[in-house]
Amino acid sequence: MKLGGHMAELPARAVARVAITRLMLTNFRSYGMLDLRADAHHVVLIGPNGAGKTNILEALSMFAPGRGLRGARLSDLSRTVLGGATHRPWAVSAALSVGGDDTQIGVGYMPGTDESGLTKRSVRIDGVPVASPAHLAERIRLIWLTPAMDRLFVEGASERRRFLDRLIASFDPLHARRWSSFETAMRERQGALRAGGDAQWLSALERTMAETGIAVAASRMSGVATLSRAMDEQHVSVFPRADISLTGTIEAALEIKAAVDVEDEYAAALRLARRSDLDASRTSAGPHLTDFVVRHREKGRDAQSCSTGEQKALLIRLTLGCAALPAPGAPDAPILLLDEVAAHLDDVRRRALFVEIDALNVQAWMTGTDVAAFVALEGRAQFKRVADGQIRPC
Ligand SMILES: Nc1ncnc2c1ncn2[C@@H]1O[C@H](COP(=O)(O)OP(=O)(O)OP(=O)(O)O)[C@@H](O)[C@H]1O
Ligand SMILES: [Mg+2]
Repeated sequence: MKLGGHMAELPARAVARVAITRLMLTNFRSYGMLDLRADAHHVVLIGPNGAGKTNILEALSMFAPGRGLRGARLSDLSRTVLGGATHRPWAVSAALSVGGDDTQIGVGYMPGTDESGLTKRSVRIDGVPVASPAHLAERIRLIWLTPAMDRLFVEGASERRRFLDRLIASFDPLHARRWSSFETAMRERQGALRAGGDAQWLSALERTMAETGIAVAASRMSGVATLSRAMDEQHVSVFPRADISLTGTIEAALEIKAAVDVEDEYAAALRLARRSDLDASRTSAGPHLTDFVVRHREKGRDAQSCSTGEQKALLIRLTLGCAALPAPGAPDAPILLLDEVAAHLDDVRRRALFVEIDALNVQAWMTGTDVAAFVALEGRAQFKRVADGQIRPC
C-alpha cells in the first residue's frame, strides 16, 4: 500500500466526539497536585524516563473497570515521598466532553476500608457519588496499549486472556460484569471447599459458576467474531490483519452443543473435581483457563513467532479494530491511551498509525521520550512536556 496516497484521501480532522478536556490529580503516583487542561485534539506527553508520563495515562485508566493499565493495587497509587506516609487518599477527576457537553467524572481512594481492591474505589459523576464504578462504563470507554503488552504473545495465557477481556469489555460493557460474577463464584467455591462446605451449598455455587462461566465464554466468542468483522471492515491499514480465536474447553463445547447442555456438563465436571480442586487450591476447568490465539494472517504465522515490531503491529490492529466498534450502552467513541506506542515502529508505520487514529475520530493520549517521533502529528495534537512533576506546553 502506498502511504502517501492513503494520507491524501483522509478528510480534515474533525474534533473527537468524546474527549478529556481537563485532568486533575491529587496525591496520585508522582503527582501531589496537577491540573492539566487540554482540548479535544490528541495529547502527546513528552519527557525523559521517570518524568511521570505513564502515571498520567494510568490516572486516566482508573475510569475503566479493573485495576488500570498497570494492574496496581489502589493503595499503591497514593503518592509516597521519601520517609513520608503511604496509603494516603488519592483522587483523579476529569472533565469529559461528549459532543460538546461536559461531564465531571471522579475516582477516589480512601484508605482504611477492606483490602479487596475495587470496592474501595469511590466514583462521582457531576459531583454525585454513584454506587458502582460500573456506572462509569456508560460515560467513558478507554482502550490502552502499553510497553508491558509487548511480551503478551510470549508469556502465559492469563495476560492474553485479560487483554482480550478488556478489549471486549470496551465495546460490550456487560462482559466485565459477567466476568466478575464468574470470578466471585469461583472464589466462593474454593473458599467453601476449604471450609468443608456442605454439598448443597457447593452445588449452588457450582451452578452459578456454570451459568456465569458459560455466559463469559459465549460473550468472548461473540466478541472475537465482532472484532474479526471490525478488522475486515477496515479496508486500508498498514497494520497486519490478525486472525483471532479462542482455545478453551467450554468454547469448544459451545461450538457443537446447546448452551444448556454445556452448562450442565460444566456443573457436573466441577462436582467431580471437588477433591482435586481442594488439593490443588485451584479450579481445574473453566473460562479462566481459555487462551486467546492470534495469528499474523499474511505471514501465516503465530504471533508468538513474529518479530517484536510485527507483534506490536498486530496489537495495534486489534486495538484500532476495537476502537472502531460501536458500544451499545456506552459513548460512541473511546479514548485511546497509547504508552510509548512509537517505539518499535518504523517511520512509515508510525505515520500510518497517526493517520488511522485520526480516521477513527477519537482522542488519543500518547507518550514518548522524543518529540521527533510525533512530528507527523503537528497541528493535529497538543504537545506537552512532562518534567519535575509539572506539565508545560511543549
Ligand atoms: N506511589 C508513588 N509515589 C510517588 N512516586 C511514584 C509512585 N509510584 C511511582 N512513582 C514514580 O513516578 C515516576 C514517574 O513514573 P512514570 O512511569 O510515569 O514515568 P515515565 O515518564 O512514564 O517514564 P518512562 O519514560 O521511563 O516510561 C517514577 O520515578 C516513579 O518512581
Ligand atoms: Mg512510561
